Amino acid sequence: MKSTPWWREAVIYQIYPRSFYDSNGDGEGDLAGITSHLEYVRDLGVDAIWLSPFYTSPNKDGGYDVADPRDVDPRYGDLEDAKALIKRAHELELRVLADIVPNHFSDQHEWFKAALKSGRGSSERSRFHFYDAKPDGTPPNNWVSLFGGAAWTQVSDGQFYLHLFDSSQPDLNWENPEVNADFETTLRFWLDLGIDGFRIDVAHGLVKENIHVNHPDPEGLSDALRLDVEMDTDARNALLESVPYFDRQGVHEIYRKWRTLFDSYGARDVMAVAEAWVHPPVNATRYVRADELHQVFNFDLLTAPFHSGYLFEVINRSNQLNATVNALPTWALSNHDSPRVASRLGALESQALALFVFALPGSAYIFAGQELGLPDGELQDSDRQDPSFIRSKGAIKGRDGARVPLPWSGNSTPFGFTVGTPWLPINQSWQPLSVESQSRDSKSLLNLYRSAMALRTEHLTGAGEIEWLESPLHGSLREGLLVFKRGSVTIVMNLSEQILEVDYSGQVILQSAGDLENCDGKHIVPARSTVWILN
Ligand code: NOJ
Repeated sequence: MKSTPWWREAVIYQIYPRSFYDSNGDGEGDLAGITSHLEYVRDLGVDAIWLSPFYTSPNKDGGYDVADPRDVDPRYGDLEDAKALIKRAHELELRVLADIVPNHFSDQHEWFKAALKSGRGSSERSRFHFYDAKPDGTPPNNWVSLFGGAAWTQVSDGQFYLHLFDSSQPDLNWENPEVNADFETTLRFWLDLGIDGFRIDVAHGLVKENIHVNHPDPEGLSDALRLDVEMDTDARNALLESVPYFDRQGVHEIYRKWRTLFDSYGARDVMAVAEAWVHPPVNATRYVRADELHQVFNFDLLTAPFHSGYLFEVINRSNQLNATVNALPTWALSNHDSPRVASRLGALESQALALFVFALPGSAYIFAGQELGLPDGELQDSDRQDPSFIRSKGAIKGRDGARVPLPWSGNSTPFGFTVGTPWLPINQSWQPLSVESQSRDSKSLLNLYRSAMALRTEHLTGAGEIEWLESPLHGSLREGLLVFKRGSVTIVMNLSEQILEVDYSGQVILQSAGDLENCDGKHIVPARSTVWILN
């Protein structure tokens, strides 16, 4: 039985529109291509799709540089295509989440063009963060872009504007009420078209401290420690805590207002999930307090090693922290910004981890292609388009590897994705990974995901908390083994290199590797695999 509301334990399938399916042969995926393949998504057994941006955009940052948030970019189709997609999804009982990008616009947005024309001190410039140079002519402060280089770009009259990402993505000034008013118009626009909720990009970034737009004063712009894309996790976390442009208290006021707007749609059960890279982890729970958003991404598993102690810690912590605000966690192993899990951990490990997290309480996110076990694409530097690759002059390879289009069918690349030339090359070695190849093979990863979704719905959704049976909490911990019971299912993950024998009673209903084995009431759990045992 499904829990209510619909999103609380939903499985949400992330589609990167440019890479899903190309319906018109231009080499890039589009909305009509998604619509024509929604049955595939429905058959996976997920509850909703999340569409990465498809709005009008010069596409300097994969569409996260939005020039018109209330229209569709011609590369993806038009508003009629968006309506048709939503309609078809609803017919198939799939909810649709759109991506909303409130931290910045594209420099091609009409507001920014007007700001450039209007000059210093104008109301047009006050929608962004424009400041004069320091007396020595350098940028107002030392903030750096997350894509590398300075976070400030100078315009022809000498002022600088702030961009935490690419120079083509000027940050919006949320102290200006016009900004929120415009975003509320955008939220309503898509909700009125039938969208069921939103993924909020850089949800923690909207409010900047020490920026006083009505009193521009370079002295007031404090320097910050440099948050660098290439830092290791610990160094990055330490800075995430302190930089004056992330996770400031003011962002929560914005989400309280948005929550009122969402709730005004009543029984539609509109939901929103925050992309908020914050530290310490307890701060993430502030985004999902009862009067704010519904979910916040938990990014722990995007970087976690395949290690029992580490996984136990982050899973347990997320369960416990969310419980303090009566929320449930979210789990994601891959997304369009991170190396794909099959490349990061390995094929067996990623399958084991997927079955483990699909059994946990909360919502699971699947990045399209994860169900096929796609690794990162093998790209030449000449293929790369990510602004972090371009801005770092190649020092950072960037995120294109995770964004290579999906292989659908046939024996040669581009495997039915397009009749043209795909915007990123699809390696010929992906033939056995295509949807067609895997649909024919009852033991494929695709079929494992389908079974997992069906069994999750049948036995686990709404089944409440987990009870750890073997974990670092127990003296009985065996090296490399994590076991929990949830509802009527015992989930066993063997992270070790050895076959393990466990004696939890019941019937094995799902196994990430090897054949279902049951010898004299004892279950054999192959190395680096997970089994679900129905008690
Ligand atoms: C997070 C998005 O997921 C990423 O793709 C984008 O580059 C940045 N936010 C900036 O919008």
